[in-house]
Amino acid sequence: MASYNLFLLPGDGIGPEVMTEVEKVANFLDQSGVARFEMDRGLVGGCAYDAHGQSISEADMEKAQAADAVLFGAVGGPKWDAVPYDVRPEAGLLRLRKDLALYANLRPAMCYPALADASSLKREIVENLDIMIVRELTGGVYFGEPKQIIDLGNGQKRGIDTQVYDTYEIERIGRVAFELARKRNNKVTSSEKRNVMKSGVLWNEVITALHKREYADVQLEHQLADSLGMQLVRWPKQFDVIVTDNLFGDMLSDIASMLTGSLGMLPSASLGDVDPKTKKRKALYEPVHGSAPDIAGQGLANPIAMIASFAMCLRYSFGLGEPADMIEKAIANVLDAGLRTADIKGSLPSHISTTQMGDAILAEVKKLS
Ligand code: NAI
Ligand code: MG
Repeated sequence: MASYNLFLLPGDGIGPEVMTEVEKVANFLDQSGVARFEMDRGLVGGCAYDAHGQSISEADMEKAQAADAVLFGAVGGPKWDAVPYDVRPEAGLLRLRKDLALYANLRPAMCYPALADASSLKREIVENLDIMIVRELTGGVYFGEPKQIIDLGNGQKRGIDTQVYDTYEIERIGRVAFELARKRNNKVTSSEKRNVMKSGVLWNEVITALHKREYADVQLEHQLADSLGMQLVRWPKQFDVIVTDNLFGDMLSDIASMLTGSLGMLPSASLGDVDPKTKKRKALYEPVHGSAPDIAGQGLANPIAMIASFAMCLRYSFGLGEPADMIEKAIANVLDAGLRTADIKGSLPSHISTTQMGDAILAEVKKLS
């Protein structure tokens, strides 16, 4: 039986609460012989700062490097608002993304049928929606140099950020998108603003050439990022896989996430390169939501985003598509049965707790397996 080393970084706030529910599911899959899961835990974020003055320790960074996959909860909270910039809770997550070179951020936006009325859009627009946004995560304007504020000396200042993309960065993210599309509905929409940005012209050229060379079987279309934002709220089901840069991906994935109801539902994956020696891909899986300090410690957190992130881990890191499908089906069934945590619209007055939701999903996984 295959054995996988999972490194768990629950973090702060509701992070540990939702991670506990994932461990139950992983333990069950382990016991029922799907695969061996060795689970180790570390500290990241505010709790790590409290323990040793850093947002993640070197020892935990090494464990993250060595792991087959990292499961990350959430970090931050008002308790650490005054902590120095370098060791603030978010720095731990940024360090993980950077050191593991997690350049591909996958954010599915899917709408479970039972929640089609929880969206801010009409049921027919979101019902059964299942799209995947692939955002470039380690390049572009968030990292490009120069990046500074210059004092012009005449009472004026100048703020500068630089959008930079090299061919290899565009190619490798494009490859992730085309490979995913082949396993889904075989369509990629690439997005930039080539009408006003040179990096957009290059993006378009590189994706077009890659498509022609290696992925001609996949349908490819190009859409300007502003128009894509509009299309996402007009008729999102026209898309399958969307690939775009760091900045546009940040915005488009947040827009897409809101099509589907609650923030507590949304998983994500961040992938790096395949190691030519071990054939393993560095990867970190985390819910899209933060540490939700307003509800932490009250048993109110929705564990679905975290559990669905684990399903993505099974699918993308371990090739365990069947158990991943089973977990997603279990989530759908539990929602169909009317079970809701308090964050899901229409849940009141009879919502269930984090533990109850985790247990209900586990019971359903057991039934399906
Ligand atoms: P947030 O995502 O933590 O919370 C936004 C709202 O959604 C809150 O009302 C919260 O109660 C609710 N919510 C979020 N996840 C939920 C879940 N699983 N179940 C039920 N309700 C849920 O974002 P916010 O409030 O902007 O940030 C809070 C803290 O989290 C800040 O310190 C922020 O820096 C940090 N943060 C961390 C992230 C990460 O670790 N990746 C991402 C976003 C924020
Ligand atoms: Mg964002």
